[in-house]
Amino acid sequence: MANKSISVAAPATVANVACGFDALGFAVNSPSDVVTMRMLDEPGIRILPVRGPYGEGLSTDPAKNTAGVAVASFLKRIKSIQGFEIILYKNLPLGSGLGSSAASSAAAVFAANELMGRPLAVEALIPCAMEAEKIACGAAHADNVAPALLGGFVLIRSYEPLDIVHIPCPENLFCTLLHPHVELRTEDSRKILRSEIKLIDAITQWSNLAGLIAGLITANYPLIGRSLQDVIIEPIRSVLIPGFDVIKQAALKNGVLGCSISGSGPSIFALSTDEATANKAGQAMQQALSEIDLTSDLFVSRINMHGAQVIKF
Ligand code: HSE
Repeated sequence: MANKSISVAAPATVANVACGFDALGFAVNSPSDVVTMRMLDEPGIRILPVRGPYGEGLSTDPAKNTAGVAVASFLKRIKSIQGFEIILYKNLPLGSGLGSSAASSAAAVFAANELMGRPLAVEALIPCAMEAEKIACGAAHADNVAPALLGGFVLIRSYEPLDIVHIPCPENLFCTLLHPHVELRTEDSRKILRSEIKLIDAITQWSNLAGLIAGLITANYPLIGRSLQDVIIEPIRSVLIPGFDVIKQAALKNGVLGCSISGSGPSIFALSTDEATANKAGQAMQQALSEIDLTSDLFVSRINMHGAQVIKF
């Protein structure tokens, strides 16, 4: 049916979660990107000038905007030439480590699937959104798009073939997200990583990832805390984040379970067992950053358990 329209919100996500580089991510409640989509009478994807606080300058070329790429991939998969008009409200800053490109592609592909009467299960939308990650940062990683679509903690056990595992998580888990006002392109922060690592570091990392998953499933908060350690990626990337060490210390001193880089940074996340601690730690982290003259945004939320969803807008 032509001219049917829908609005979908998809949330910010924390990829890697310390020890799970490219393998684990979770969704938070805010901020979210919003997409309003309309079916057209003619084929083609049309993106209107991007709106919202971070919309300025974003490409409206469907081949260069992650929302357009994800929808094109979806249409190819379902062998349809349906046309869409996309209005993107960009509430997530680019190059922030908050899963900005993933939120746009997840919202758009979810909206397209809804408008078409759900020809695909939500899990089957993940590869469409992954194609968009490839144009955003050169790598089709799924640790942002999978939680942005599905919500909760999501493990990518394998990429070839794609094997997505929902990880149950305890109720009392609060995320503090500090977004320093500096931009770090994922493509650049991937380039500096080593392609080979020491066996001893691999052992530490996979033990921590297994510990984190076990801790989440059994609501063992001390185990979650002990496992939130990254001996491979954080030591390399943290040098790109101004004040990272003092910010992390500020979080740990204020009672969080653990703290690390959100995605490829510069955002930093911490997990806590109660909202008061998550807020207090966030303020201490923001204060530590302001001491080196950097401003930031602070988000505190529970884990988002639903992912992308239709909203009234
Ligand atoms: N796993 C990806 C990376 C997430 O760390 O490069 C990017 O947000």
